[in-house]
Amino acid sequence: MSLVGFLGATMLWVKAGHIIFVIFLMAGLFMMPRFFVYHHQVPVGSDEDGKWIEREDRLRRIILNPSLIIVWIFGLMLAFNGDYWREGWFIAKFLLVIALSGYHGWMIGYFKKLQKGDRPLSEKQLRLLNEVPGIAAAIIVILVVVRP
Ligand code: HEM
Repeated sequence: MSLVGFLGATMLWVKAGHIIFVIFLMAGLFMMPRFFVYHHQVPVGSDEDGKWIEREDRLRRIILNPSLIIVWIFGLMLAFNGDYWREGWFIAKFLLVIALSGYHGWMIGYFKKLQKGDRPLSEKQLRLLNEVPGIAAAIIVILVVVRP
């Protein structure tokens, strides 16, 4: 059974939903590493340490995780609807969003380390890692809009 065109007239609503949750996801991917940098500046076990853990936990549960799941669901619906699996721009985009999802996973893992009081990376390393989602998003949007 082919899913090509199965979205019919709802395709544009699904694409709009996809882009809306991409915006929320990117907002979370930009905020969390920035939280980590500020978190690193307060003593482990202090009141402020506890407050940063709460902030990061809320960002994870309310924004990051739900947005990533909805971006994938709508994205895969669009991919099957348009049957883009053999198109170069989409294969490149798909590999990049898998990498971006891996970055998301790494961040959640780092949050759990901070929750235990571990701080394996330096502030400088965190600031460098903060650039990853921006660069990835720029390339992803060029791939899906320009379709080179
Ligand atoms: C997570 C897995 C993702 C999948 C499977 C996916 C898949 C797709 C597909 C198939 C389309 C084309 C819809 C069409 O015109 O028929 C699309 C549109 C779009 N995607 Fe994604 N996407 C994903 C994640 C992302 C991410 C992370 C971003 C941005 C950082 C993004 C940005 C966009 C944009 C801006 C469009 C609209 C392009 C246009 O209308 O010209 N997507 N996506």
